[in-house]
Amino acid sequence: MKYFTPPSRPLLVVALFALAMAAAGCSHPLPEAGSAAERLYLERCGSCHRPYQPRSLTAAMWQAQLVAMRQKIAAAGQPPLTPAQDHEILEYLQRNAGVQ
Ligand code: HEC
Repeated sequence: MKYFTPPSRPLLVVALFALAMAAAGCSHPLPEAGSAAERLYLERCGSCHRPYQPRSLTAAMWQAQLVAMRQKIAAAGQPPLTPAQDHEILEYLQRNAGVQ
């Protein structure tokens, strides 16, 4: 009688890592990963939905989106973005925004 052979350990590690990344919504890493701006963006803009890729919108669209999100944040009873946070997030998104 043959016993089930579990997948090799390296394969298991890779599979678990892929699963964890997918669960965290990080299958496509954000630009400037690990920077203060990226962490702030993740923290403030990745709690209600996955953090959108900066390149998915243009600079002008990000400006409008941030205004809309201020209302979502207020409606959800979350603390508003401080002017400094607002500025840092907008700069981050616009530096990495899509061209069209
Ligand atoms: C309090 C929850 C909440 C937070 C925090 C939040 N969002 Fe949203 N966001 C939403 C909801 C809800 C939607 C769905 C669209 C709608 O209802 O208008 C959305 C949609 C979006 C969309 C997609 C819009 C579209 O037309 O598809 C983008 C882009 C976005 N948010 C960016 C951001 C950014 C940038 C931040 C950080 C400043 C942020 N969000 C923080 C709740 C939030």
